[in-house]
Amino acid sequence: MSPQPQAAVGAPLSRVDGRLKVTGKALYAAEHEVGGAVHAVIVDASVGRGRITSIDTGDAEAQPGVLKVIHHRNTPKLPYRDNSGSNNPPGRRLRVFQDDRVLFHGQPVAVVVATTLEAAQHGASLVEVGYDAEQPSTDLAEAQPGDPTNYARGDAEAALRSAVVRLDLTYQLARNHHNPMEPHATIARWDGDKLTVWDKTQWVVGTQTELSTVFDLPMDSVRVISPFVGGAFGSGLRCWPHVVVAALAARETGHPVKLVLSRRQMYFGAGFRPSYAYRLRLGSDRRGRLSAAVHDIDAETSSYETFTEAVLPAGQMLYSMPHVSQAYRTVPLDVNTPIWMRGPGFATASFVIESAMDELADKLGIDPIELRRRNEPNEDESSGLPFSTRRLRECYTVGAREFGWHRRASRPRSRREGDWLIGLGMSAGVYDTARNAAQARVRLDADGTAVVEAASSDMGPGTYTSQTQVAADALGLTMRTVTFRLGDSLFPPTPPHGGSMTMASVGSAVLDGCDKVRRQAIELAVEDRESPLYGVAADDIVVRGGRLHVKNDPARGETYRALLARNHRTHLESLGSFTRPSGPQRHSFYAYNATFAEVAVDVTLGLVRVRRMLGVYDAGRIISPKLAESQAIGGIVGGIGTTLLEHTVTDHRDGRIVNANLADYLVPVNADVPEVRAIYLDGEDREADPLGVKGLGEVVHVGVAPAIANAVHNATGRRIRTLPITAEALL
Ligand code: MOS
Repeated sequence: MSPQPQAAVGAPLSRVDGRLKVTGKALYAAEHEVGGAVHAVIVDASVGRGRITSIDTGDAEAQPGVLKVIHHRNTPKLPYRDNSGSNNPPGRRLRVFQDDRVLFHGQPVAVVVATTLEAAQHGASLVEVGYDAEQPSTDLAEAQPGDPTNYARGDAEAALRSAVVRLDLTYQLARNHHNPMEPHATIARWDGDKLTVWDKTQWVVGTQTELSTVFDLPMDSVRVISPFVGGAFGSGLRCWPHVVVAALAARETGHPVKLVLSRRQMYFGAGFRPSYAYRLRLGSDRRGRLSAAVHDIDAETSSYETFTEAVLPAGQMLYSMPHVSQAYRTVPLDVNTPIWMRGPGFATASFVIESAMDELADKLGIDPIELRRRNEPNEDESSGLPFSTRRLRECYTVGAREFGWHRRASRPRSRREGDWLIGLGMSAGVYDTARNAAQARVRLDADGTAVVEAASSDMGPGTYTSQTQVAADALGLTMRTVTFRLGDSLFPPTPPHGGSMTMASVGSAVLDGCDKVRRQAIELAVEDRESPLYGVAADDIVVRGGRLHVKNDPARGETYRALLARNHRTHLESLGSFTRPSGPQRHSFYAYNATFAEVAVDVTLGLVRVRRMLGVYDAGRIISPKLAESQAIGGIVGGIGTTLLEHTVTDHRDGRIVNANLADYLVPVNADVPEVRAIYLDGEDREADPLGVKGLGEVVHVGVAPAIANAVHNATGRRIRTLPITAEALL
């Protein structure tokens, strides 16, 4: 078929759901009106490890409005079948109210259900739980790591010993929490054996499989609805215990139940970015050509599940070097299970690798960009595969020019303005291009409008808008005449809305479904004697503004409406799909960036102020430039948080998180966010997926921390290898 004219894709459009959002009409999980809903509040464990010895619910149950208190002594055994189709990491997932064990501080130990939220909250405060407490282990530095995951090529230890230049650096990265604006929330309702939940999730299908396995229900007996998600950053990528608690509470009380985690409960009721201890040793020659890297990585996980993330790939493929050795150990602690968060794995590795590259550049007296150029690989040295596209050199060139990199003083501490030391820093960033099987249903109605449905999710990047753009162009309709629906497990299945894979996966399925419907219409027309397009080769027809016409003869054609009406068709419909090509992979797929930062550091107070940031991205084709820019700004803001502010603090005496609130856990506010600029290189990745996109939601976060840390070094001469970089560390 003839390629369709692209009018919506690539245009800087505003969000199609913008009005709904700013007028409060977009309904988030807890806002759905579900008749007869009562309220549930979780009682969470106040010890970090141990056993429950007593539960006194008398006072709570005596309160007006309290319907029931549910805990391990009155909860029936739940099936908890294995769930292989989930994001649950290996291990034995937390089974709510199934025994007396406390595995971490904050674990749900009871739930109070009441007719009002206030009664449920008050009731929860009256439940007396007795514990046989044990000393929890929550300190990464003190605990015993498990067996490592290893990677090796060449002989890195030997190569290090013979390297002319050697670095041996140890980094500590704090635990981070996602802190989306909308807390996690669920409304659960049973209709006989059928369960419906309105949930905050990045994956309705994942929540559906989890509930179906926990309660041993057929998949089609569980429906998960999640049309709007108020930010998630990875925290919604699996179904957490409170969702089961809500469903259980609804079943046990016979009422629909609404359960919202408090901000405090968000710190142990959903996952977090694990803390890391990361030792990196680098070897190079005097010209900065890397010969070897040895990575020793320790990361926290829970005692009951082994969470891992992609912290290894960047060390294997970002720079050329013959010898690499990596050992990645998870350290089981008495904490809840971590999960992916903003640029997961890659952001962690990039802070370490890119900070170390800056140190190497400094040690050798080579410009940091030049050092990176000298180590640019010709292929992915971890697999021997060619890169589908890798335009990192261009990112450096454009970034250096646009940021004014030539103004960076190569000697640290040489620019000062009053009390402020000024420095510039940069970093490379990389994130893998993931995509997974997805489907989308497309229906073109007789009135010339279309509806496209896919389970998917939109936690904020603008999926409603960008998918509408893809559909509108592929159908030859305007944005206004296409409606994209998502966030319902009744719609065709899609992979998790995370890992930067939604556009590649869902978008490709939408494209496929719309192409099929357009082809149906074209075939109908060319075979219809009454159509002005009768007998025209299908390949010569395009559709624009809902009107099919001969590509080189726009006057000859007719509208979808006329065609469908004459043929007595109420609609045309198809199921679009995307699957990853089978067989061995022929390319290495990644998105890249070069990130630049300018900071000012107060000489006496140690305060770091980011003044300017620029990200230059090689993310393939950009479907929605305005939303992509927003994503980049968001990624950089999140990165500023990780670099300078965010730090979940645990009291290792009892495993309690001491800053489980937004007053003590610091996130960037407007005053922390300077001029931020994003540049996407024009282009596409034809190998990656039919749309040519490489994913951008994660890569925009990667590289922010090292760019800022390197700028801090350039400003002050101080090398801070601990995140967040605090004022104390700089005094
Ligand atoms: Mo992203 S950390 O997969 O939401």
